[in-house]
Amino acid sequence: MTRFEELKELLRSNRSYRRFDESRKIDYSLLEAMVELTRYCASGRNLQPLRYRIVSTEEECRRVFPALKWAGYYQDWDGPEEGERPVAYLVQCLDTELTANCLCDDGLQLEAITLGASALGIHGTIIKAFNAEEVKNALALPDRYKPLYILSLGYPAETVLIEDTDGTTDADIRYHRDEEERHIVPKRPLKELIIR
Ligand SMILES: Cc1cc2nc3c(=O)[nH]c(=O)nc-3n(C[C@H](O)[C@H](O)[C@H](O)COP(=O)(O)O)c2cc1C
Repeated sequence: MTRFEELKELLRSNRSYRRFDESRKIDYSLLEAMVELTRYCASGRNLQPLRYRIVSTEEECRRVFPALKWAGYYQDWDGPEEGERPVAYLVQCLDTELTANCLCDDGLQLEAITLGASALGIHGTIIKAFNAEEVKNALALPDRYKPLYILSLGYPAETVLIEDTDGTTDADIRYHRDEEERHIVPKRPLKELIIR
């Protein structure tokens, strides 16, 4: 495989997972290694204003979980059951003493972290729908840190598959579960992405 093909394969495998094997913990050193990947990301004005709170103890995970909203398209699902919950979180925060906004540093870093995690067989979900006050209180985060995203992490306990949509512009892009409870993620085809 060429490096390009390897990268494409890694990107294909880098799906959002929401059910985990809660008995398998993630070493703290791996969580640190994931954060370290962000050092190599591009940064607007090279300000590098993002910080991470690593959440890895059972007690802290238990406190963070209720503040999160899962899978908006699954109206009848409140998130993973006990035993299938994330075993760690990375809370991505903006250091507001450096800047009030971070352009797209947040997304670039989340992609770097999730790609790195995928390469280790660790997956999770980028979560924007969360109660920031609850999270700040649960973790006693100093005021200068504004939580932007929460990345849930764990070793997967579900199957996630990409479904190539047929290229019509009104393709149904809502993810869904099939009859075998696999999570299916529709992706638009290349021809729909390029403006001609
Ligand atoms: C900016 C952003 C915010 C997201 N917020 C949430 C969220 O609050 N809750 C959730 O369950 N998933 C969230 N997701 C995950 C998306 O639902 C997921 O990326 C999408 O369904 C496509 O699946 P894929 O990541 O496997 O490609 C978010 C993803 C991104 C990029």
